[in-house]
Amino acid sequence: MNNIILIGFMGSGKTTIGMKLAQKYQWTFLDTDQLVEKKENMKISTIFQNHGEVYFRDLETVCLKELDNGVEKQIISVGGGLPLRSENRELLKKIGKVIYLKAKAETIYSRLKYNTDRPLLQGENPEEKIRTMLLDREKFYLEAADIIVEVDNQSYEEVVNAVGEKLE
Ligand code: S3P
Repeated sequence: MNNIILIGFMGSGKTTIGMKLAQKYQWTFLDTDQLVEKKENMKISTIFQNHGEVYFRDLETVCLKELDNGVEKQIISVGGGLPLRSENRELLKKIGKVIYLKAKAETIYSRLKYNTDRPLLQGENPEEKIRTMLLDREKFYLEAADIIVEVDNQSYEEVVNAVGEKLE
């Protein structure tokens, strides 16, 4: 296994779990949202505001192509919308073992209801938005995943251990 990639909806815990896995295995941690922000020197919400979603999605693909570079022993957490492009899903499979952190809409809503950093969840009725987006996206997450780990009602430690067990 060369790298581990975490996919899943916003709020599924990809970044937190990714950092804990990196600590556990002594691997490097990378996050595509952070790479995109660094590349543009701009927060994601500002990129969406100034340039729109398609521009952001193109940046995600550029980052992913740069990660297809033969480097190993990395835990890579990717933005919740990145696996929606089929080109990206192919790249994910090439770069590493893909783990889907699967969360229910209720779990996501309870974690993100006061969060203002997710441009796609601002506005009217975020709970309904989460439900609809999750339904639309689930097939892509499942298609991209090598391993599925359910995160509802699990502590971060429990999820980290579950990932470890499934990787054995
Ligand atoms: C998005 C998820 C966010 C970020 C952007 C769009 C999405 O990342 O990339 O706000 O479309 O699901 P996280 O999944 O890390 O929150």
